[in-house]
Amino acid sequence: MKNLGLGIAIAGSGSATPTQVLSNDDLSRIVDTSDEWISSRTGIKNRRIASNEESLADLAARAGQNAIAAAGLAADDIDLIILATSTSDDLFGTAARVQHLIGATQAAAFDLTAACSGFVFGLVTASQFIYTGAYRNILLIGADILSRWVDWNDRATCILFGDGAGAVVLQASDRDRLLGFALSSDGSQNQELNLAYQAQPNPLTDNITTSTGGYQAITMNGREVYRFAVAKVPDIISKALFRANLEASAIDWLLLHQANQRILDAVASRLDIPSEKTISNLANYGNTSAASIPIALDEAVRSGKIKPGDTIAASGFGAGLTWGAAIFQWGKE
Ligand code: UT7
Repeated sequence: MKNLGLGIAIAGSGSATPTQVLSNDDLSRIVDTSDEWISSRTGIKNRRIASNEESLADLAARAGQNAIAAAGLAADDIDLIILATSTSDDLFGTAARVQHLIGATQAAAFDLTAACSGFVFGLVTASQFIYTGAYRNILLIGADILSRWVDWNDRATCILFGDGAGAVVLQASDRDRLLGFALSSDGSQNQELNLAYQAQPNPLTDNITTSTGGYQAITMNGREVYRFAVAKVPDIISKALFRANLEASAIDWLLLHQANQRILDAVASRLDIPSEKTISNLANYGNTSAASIPIALDEAVRSGKIKPGDTIAASGFGAGLTWGAAIFQWGKE
């Protein structure tokens, strides 16, 4: 429930990506693939890969600091940090480490996991704290290092993913610029894309067994995930638009999770949104999971493409399965 007079502005963005670049040609020396296959099937040319020295916390903190500066705030103005990630440095959570690195001494911090939908789920979660009046300045970061969990012998998955972090600052504001949203999950399709714990029995006593396992690499049924995205994403954007009382023609920018250029094109076409309004940076970064929407947003804001007051339809989709959409106006002016 919205507290009257408490709206949301998305006041600043930031991003950070590793310096190592892995090209399609590099990949063709690791698995049986080619630049031609990857480019034509996905639109991806390069991806950034975190080195052994780079942590998720470092990337997330750099993106967060950039967003705080862009919003014209100081680190100790931040009340809450939400880190959307599926690749935490620490299963107990990485957000508190990020809080320390940023020096956001007043902020509570927690991780949120919804795979490639993490940024949109995080945006909606953060907004609830503002609507209730609990917090005024929230740093939302989407960050993932999927390269740690890719099977580099599996050409069906290793060509898709890259690493990075993106962030926004949400601020309490008189006018609400989060115009509508919708979230969805379907655990019955969990097997189509996962990074699951594999249990190994560990007999502790005669009648007690614990489990001592590990995480297997990312496994994915690409065709099913493709079908799911093309079917569900236009629907959930339409639902969020309906809640915002807007037509698709009112959207200035379609900002989808950067999974595959063919998915971006198919969704835009189903919503009748021209390709000039679709933001795409897939060619340079591949699929960076929870980071993909905020990295693309940050680049488009910094290049002057997205301007204050522009209406953006953002949609994340992926493992879970989860998918969600948020319609918002950029900036606080
Ligand atoms: O955040 C969400 C994450 N996941 C996604 O977004 C994935 C959504 N799915 C996709 O993007 C596409 O399904 C892929 C890009 C993963 C695959 O494209 P596709 O057009 O669905 O290809 P396919 O899986 O139907 O495979 C077609 C052929 C197969 O060979 P055969 O059986 O026709 O002989 C594959 O073995 O392409 C082969 N193939 C490759 N060939 C060269 C699969 N991966 C590669 C590769 N290089 N890297």
